[in-house]
Amino acid sequence: MSEEQIDQQVGDVALEEVPEHFDGEFPIVITGLTTAFGENVVHEGLDLEVRRGEVLGVVGGSGTGKSVLMRAIIGLQPVAAGCIEVFGKDITAAEPDEEIGVRSRWGVLFQGGALFSTLTVGENVEVPLKQFYPELDQELMHEIARYKVVLSGLPEDAASKYPSELSGGMKKRAGLARALALDPELLFLDEPTAGLDPIGAAKFDELTRELAETLGLTVFLITHDLDTLYAICDRVAVLADKKVIAVGTIPELLESDHPWIQEYFNGPRGRAAQASTARSKSIDKRDRAGA
Ligand SMILES: Nc1ncnc2c1ncn2[C@@H]1O[C@H](COP(=O)(O)OP(=O)(O)O)[C@@H](O)[C@H]1O
Ligand SMILES: [Mg+2]
Repeated sequence: MSEEQIDQQVGDVALEEVPEHFDGEFPIVITGLTTAFGENVVHEGLDLEVRRGEVLGVVGGSGTGKSVLMRAIIGLQPVAAGCIEVFGKDITAAEPDEEIGVRSRWGVLFQGGALFSTLTVGENVEVPLKQFYPELDQELMHEIARYKVVLSGLPEDAASKYPSELSGGMKKRAGLARALALDPELLFLDEPTAGLDPIGAAKFDELTRELAETLGLTVFLITHDLDTLYAICDRVAVLADKKVIAVGTIPELLESDHPWIQEYFNGPRGRAAQASTARSKSIDKRDRAGA
């Protein structure tokens, strides 16, 4: 299928109307966010800005509300107070399925991956395509799905396999392929390397960074993997005490005397990750110098 034909099919999707105050610099702006499940207040007065083009790591102890925050940003979590603007549109003011012109601009890899087990990998990737572009013809849909599968580092024949036929690492890549189905500008990854062995995790990190750079993505990356933070994140946001207590580069965060931050980054695992990053950086330098 020619590019022109693709344009004809995809091009009639209405151009987004851009809110006047939105200059594109911060695709996500959260102010004064409060969320709760009954008595259990998860976030209270949380603020966060995500910069265009950055890989933002989001860390925090288990149960601090990282996944709930992500769900709130994509409009799946009711919000008790505050405002979340995504591409300048207030998500909290809309129903989860209301057409607001921004939902096709993000892709999500949920915690655990959650592929449809009765669909092949290719069919999984087609799910969001069918949802947002039901008028696309089958052949084009297959073609796009195959392309995303390969883009995510899977062999082309993985498209016709079922999730149960894939290894853990391949499943994550399949989930990533589905998250990339709509050519998103924003990519949400919720603990993508959890459950992978260190080599698989490092490869997935590398892929994430490469895709972010080549596709110009803004990435909201929830993780507790210190190696991931050091290897691919531009900044890190720390969730604690129902808020984002700090956001910055790792050296900036190390200046903080918040006990959780100190324990996390300067505890034994934090130091090990620091040391291994320093080692691999000096190896990179030697390689570049042609030694
Ligand atoms: N569907 C739900 N119903 C009730 N409570 C929930 C639900 N989802 C999350 N929570 C609660 O919200 C808090 C934050 O959860 P979550 O965002 O999943 O934490 P994490 O930072 O580990 O991702 C936890 O106290 C959890 O028990
Ligand atoms: Mg979680």
